[in-house]
Amino acid sequence: MEPLRIGIIGTGGIAHAHARAYLAIPEVTIVGGADIVPGKARAFLDEFGLTEARDFASHEDLLKMDLDAVSVCTYNATHALCAIDALASGRHVLCEKPMSITLAEAVAMTRAEKASGKILSIGFQPRYDVNTQKVKSIIAEGALGKVYYIQTGGGRRRGIPGRTFINKETAGVGALADIGCYALDFALNSIGYPKPLTVSAYASNYFGTNPKYYADAARFQVDDFSAAFIRLEGDIVLDFRMSWAMHMDTTGDFVFLGTDAGLKVRQPHMKWWGGAWDGPIGQISFMHDQFGIPTETPVPLAENTGPSLFEKKVRAFVDAVINGKEAPIPTSQILYNQAILDGIIRSSAEKREVAIEIEQI
Ligand SMILES: NC(=O)c1ccc[n+]([C@@H]2O[C@H](COP(=O)([O-])OP(=O)(O)OC[C@H]3O[C@@H](n4cnc5c(N)ncnc54)[C@H](O)[C@@H]3O)[C@@H](O)[C@H]2O)c1
Repeated sequence: MEPLRIGIIGTGGIAHAHARAYLAIPEVTIVGGADIVPGKARAFLDEFGLTEARDFASHEDLLKMDLDAVSVCTYNATHALCAIDALASGRHVLCEKPMSITLAEAVAMTRAEKASGKILSIGFQPRYDVNTQKVKSIIAEGALGKVYYIQTGGGRRRGIPGRTFINKETAGVGALADIGCYALDFALNSIGYPKPLTVSAYASNYFGTNPKYYADAARFQVDDFSAAFIRLEGDIVLDFRMSWAMHMDTTGDFVFLGTDAGLKVRQPHMKWWGGAWDGPIGQISFMHDQFGIPTETPVPLAENTGPSLFEKKVRAFVDAVINGKEAPIPTSQILYNQAILDGIIRSSAEKREVAIEIEQI
């Protein structure tokens, strides 16, 4: 079999993780890279010894090559443009998270995917953590009864990423999209991705815009904290909190409340990260009644073996392309994630509860 021909669009930070993952898969060859910053794609390809691979200053030119699939590793604001063009040219797409910066873009990406007959998978690697999967299976087995409330918890005390993450033009949205999308994916995926109905939200940026706390404050244009109360189909509510910076170590644990039992989930690196839900899980407690007595039973954590979570995400995409499978992390789900981000932005701007409406695709 001919190797799968891969192109990488956007050769900044995370493109390195994509390249490393592809290079570890024998059925794949990286044939090109594109970045709008002159010389950046060439330097990137050379860094990996990919001297035969071609470099381009635009994704349009890269898409003129003979390619099977692309990774979209651009900053958030150009995910939709690059993914839609790649799908329209008949390529499968692995797009970095968040899916996009607006719901309208996510809808357009999903339409482009449908029209193309190719797959569009969104890069949420915590899905491959065995303990994240354990939470989902505990809930799916019915151990919690009916889940009626979820709290996302976590959030960083000081963790503004800087670079292209703090401008409207490149990032579009701040902490909410950067790490909030992970918390939403964990919450929603654990309970089967129910449809979001309404959102009442708050967002602010008191830290990013204050030189006392953030050296690059003059450039800071996005949110650094948000909280929201989200109603989901099935009479479930989601109490969401996310932060790049705050005067607190964490906004709490990740909590699932059910009619028969509850689950409390903690991050592994509370001291320095506070919990962003972008990696593996630190501790899971099963809260239940045993012989009528409220009891806390630790759920034994399993060890992740084999490739990193990131590599697993890239491998799952490659496997889906080669074997004609569905997208491993499908747009049908992530559209709901993006709809909530969109609702949080609208609600916090309008300072009232808003309805979530998703156009028919
Ligand atoms: N899954 C993860 O663990 C993870 C980790 C970090 C970042 N990310 C995501 O990856 C994306 C990129 O983050 P990053 O840290 O690599 O940012 P970055 O700014 O380092 O890199 C983005 C690159 O895309 C290029 N670019 C932008 N628009 C382009 C276009 N139209 N065509 C070609 N190149 C274009 C930029 O010039 C830049 O070099 C973000 O959406 C971020 O949320 C995911």
